Amino acid sequence: MIRPLEPRDLPAVFAINQANRPAVGDLDEAWLAQLVEWADLALVVESEQIDAFLLVMAPGSPYPSPNYRWFERRREASGEDHVYVDRIAVRHRAQNQRLGSALYEELFRLRPGRPVSCEVNVRPMNAGSLRFHERHGFGEVGQQGANGKTVAMLLRKPVEPDHRNR
Ligand SMILES: CC(C)(COP(=O)(O)OP(=O)(O)OC[C@H]1O[C@@H](n2cnc3c(N)ncnc32)[C@H](O)[C@@H]1OP(=O)(O)O)[C@@H](O)C(=O)NCCC(=O)NCCS
Repeated sequence: MIRPLEPRDLPAVFAINQANRPAVGDLDEAWLAQLVEWADLALVVESEQIDAFLLVMAPGSPYPSPNYRWFERRREASGEDHVYVDRIAVRHRAQNQRLGSALYEELFRLRPGRPVSCEVNVRPMNAGSLRFHERHGFGEVGQQGANGKTVAMLLRKPVEPDHRNR
């Protein structure tokens, strides 16, 4: 079941985040609570336990992440809207069972017509996540790097309505 993230989920979400470093960024519980407060959308997948989570930031957030700010500068320069996937992660034993895909389908359903931005590590390479994002319609719009790490900046444009049958 996909449902909104609630404060009682924070310890389980924190554990999933930390187990998936460095694919997702390191944090502490206080910073996680701050990210959830800033988030436009915070979802979890729960069966017997919390198996996965998704945090999405809208434009105009004070979130200082360099990757979020990269997309915000792009929006300010070009007017291109976006909602930013700050992090998506699945508990190790629940990976590859379409939970990540289900979270993205829910995001696309809840934010129809909105471009979706995110970044994926390419140095060190996160090939699984890159494939996962390409499969969901994301394409590279840039790269940025610091301290020996490089990320690919990805954007998923909304699917155009099909006018052929009108
Ligand atoms: C990437 C991730 C969110 C995908 O969710 P998922 O529920 O495992 O994926 P789905 O079952 O919906 O889709 C399967 C695809 O996900 C990717 N994937 C699966 N396991 C993965 C893993 N351990 N690490 C990274 N990607 C993985 C693969 O591309 C897979 O496709 P494949 O069959 O071609 O290998 C999830 O695997 C995960 O949390 N990975 C570790 C953290 C991470 O990389 N987060 C994204 C940071 S940008």
